[in-house]
Amino acid sequence: MRFDVVTLFPAMFAAITEHGITRRAHELRLWTLTTWNPRDFTADAHRTVDDRPYGGGPGMVMMAEPLAQAVAAIRAEGAGARVIALAPAGHALNDAQVRRWAEGGGSMAIVCGRYEGIDQRFLDDCVDEVVSVGDFVMSGGELAAMALIDAVVRQLPGALKEASADEESFATGLLDAPHYTRPEQWRGRDVPAVLLSGHHADIEAWRRREALAATLRQRPELIRSARAEGRLTARDERDLRELAQVGAAESKSAA
Ligand SMILES: C[S@@+](CC[C@H](N)C(=O)[O-])C[C@H]1O[C@@H](n2cnc3c(N)ncnc32)[C@H](O)[C@@H]1O
Repeated sequence: MRFDVVTLFPAMFAAITEHGITRRAHELRLWTLTTWNPRDFTADAHRTVDDRPYGGGPGMVMMAEPLAQAVAAIRAEGAGARVIALAPAGHALNDAQVRRWAEGGGSMAIVCGRYEGIDQRFLDDCVDEVVSVGDFVMSGGELAAMALIDAVVRQLPGALKEASADEESFATGLLDAPHYTRPEQWRGRDVPAVLLSGHHADIEAWRRREALAATLRQRPELIRSARAEGRLTARDERDLRELAQVGAAESKSAA
């Protein structure tokens, strides 16, 4: 898959080309990255990419023209089939979308904002989708772009050594179950006995119940979606009833 990123800070992307799973996948040529600096698409001596906001107010706004030219240059190479811009005001990135993009493959251009953001006319004219990585504000789109690329790349066939992506949080519609490794006892805390039993069916059942418990506790709306999508078994429903009873009893005794 090809990613083209429009950024004022191309060096930041070494974080994903030079480390971990994304580095390995990059070396395997499962994905490529080309960065484009909007300053290379300016006409003035200062290579200006930002200006004061119309209507007043603090900060600077990224100008439309250098960004539009950068996207045009990407398109001239036959890439940037989909153009994404990053902004807190975009729609929230989620696992289903990440998987769709990874399955679709092809090419994607990602535009990173800085300052107060990007001139709206560029977003209206040149961008297919505006994406947010969460309800918080960062100083620039680079970390958001890297989060998006990392999430997509780990879904590309061959990126993970073991096929663990299908068991991770959200893949099943639930959050992940907790994980443990050696030693068996740490600071007085034991690994749950079932995980040492070697009984695969019991371990699987325990993990499923723990995933249900974590999801019910942290993200109950995901349980509702999983139910609506028919992803819950009769046993899941029974476990959920028990977990809800335990939760209700615990909050009663705490009160
Ligand atoms: C300081 S932010 C601009 C914030 C903007 N004035 C607002 O209030 O929504 C600068 C850039 O960081 C990026 N950014 C910051 N937070 C983000 C988030 N949660 N998701 C995606 N991009 C984000 C965007 O590209 C944005 O243009």
